[in-house]
Amino acid sequence: MAGASGLSGKRLLVLGAGAAQLGLLEAARGAGVFTIAVDRDPGAPGMALADRRAILSAEDELGIGRLAEAERVEGVIAPGIDWPVGIAARVAAKRALPHPLEPATGALAVSKLRQRERFGAEGVPQPRWRVVTEPEDDLPVPCVLKAPDRQGQRGLSLVRDESELRRAVAQAIAAARNGQALVEELVEGPELTVNAFSVDGEFVPLTVTDRITAEPPAFGVALAHVWPAEDGAAEAAEVARRAVAALGIRNGPTYTQIRLSADGPKVMEVAARLGGGHDAELCRAAVGVDLNGLALRAALGEPVEPPSPEPRVGGATTAFLVAPAGELQTPPAVDEAAAAEGVLAVRVYRRPGFRFGELRTGADRAGAVLAVGDSRAAAWDRARAAAALLRFHTDAALV
Ligand SMILES: Nc1ncnc2c1ncn2[C@@H]1O[C@H](COP(=O)(O)OP(=O)(O)OP(=O)(O)O)[C@@H](O)[C@H]1O
Ligand SMILES: [Mg+2]
Repeated sequence: MAGASGLSGKRLLVLGAGAAQLGLLEAARGAGVFTIAVDRDPGAPGMALADRRAILSAEDELGIGRLAEAERVEGVIAPGIDWPVGIAARVAAKRALPHPLEPATGALAVSKLRQRERFGAEGVPQPRWRVVTEPEDDLPVPCVLKAPDRQGQRGLSLVRDESELRRAVAQAIAAARNGQALVEELVEGPELTVNAFSVDGEFVPLTVTDRITAEPPAFGVALAHVWPAEDGAAEAAEVARRAVAALGIRNGPTYTQIRLSADGPKVMEVAARLGGGHDAELCRAAVGVDLNGLALRAALGEPVEPPSPEPRVGGATTAFLVAPAGELQTPPAVDEAAAAEGVLAVRVYRRPGFRFGELRTGADRAGAVLAVGDSRAAAWDRARAAAALLRFHTDAALV
């Protein structure tokens, strides 16, 4: 089968080997692709899936360029991770490798600020926003503060009271690469994710899921993705299409976050890559499209046909696991959860000795469960029940 895919033996540089890259690395292995994984953490859970490992930051553009040359790679991919999307596009262009994104599009896609400007110019609905470069306490509240060029909730906070403003602005500026903070109107309403794949400018929405997020202080952290979305899937897909077009993304996977406000859908942001929450695996289970495989093909310059999503189940849910703060003593026994009805995958991200903090960002999550069922509710119940079986024993005294 690997031979039939046309991917077997191809050499692919994968930026990141963390939880967000597990699915792509597994798919690459299944297709016989030779992967060189880059991560600054030698203990990253995806390292074991790679054929070769480089202990290097996925943001070290110079190092990645050198590695691409030394390893004679035939493609570069940055799944589930933002900043390296721009790096992958530039490194591919420099080495004349096929790549779904032009460097200019990659650079646009990794800046929340430049996205806001493009959406404004193209009339894509979005929160009201402005930029600040110094601590301020004269901004309308409630508002959301964020670093324009980070992901994973770094520098992100919800401000409800003026007294919290100064600190939130300072935090966002400190987290930013460019010394600026983005201040946004707080958009209330259900949040949806549109996972899609584009082929030569044809945007094909694959799954629209509800993104269930944590409350402050873990504001914005996804705790579950639930398919199908309860409401607004068609309008969300249409707005995602417009947002992706506004950024000039014509090929490859996109992940668009949208909130359904009282005055219609508003785009939080677009990522020009696979989602980082096992979205491709949910997509395959829900609508039968091998999104990881498509992303691999696009990254290696293999021909791709626009996919045809067809519901395969009534519902599908990815539920993330959260461990109590402390040093992990014994990882959870996964057998019972993995064998439960409808459970397709159980992932545990960390090994004994890892120190969990309180849940603040996506990186604090401990694992995930993917479950399917006859309905959205059935899949949700199964994922939650399986997650409850997974106990992380931590020792808070060792933190
Ligand atoms: N203006 C806003 N109004 C309402 N909620 C928001 C706003 N901005 C961000 N959020 C919430 O915070 C989450 C993360 O926001 P955003 O994508 O901007 O940050 P991020 O650091 O890129 O996080 P992630 O890596 O999870 O995408 C959103 O999915 C949403 O739940
Ligand atoms: Mg985001």
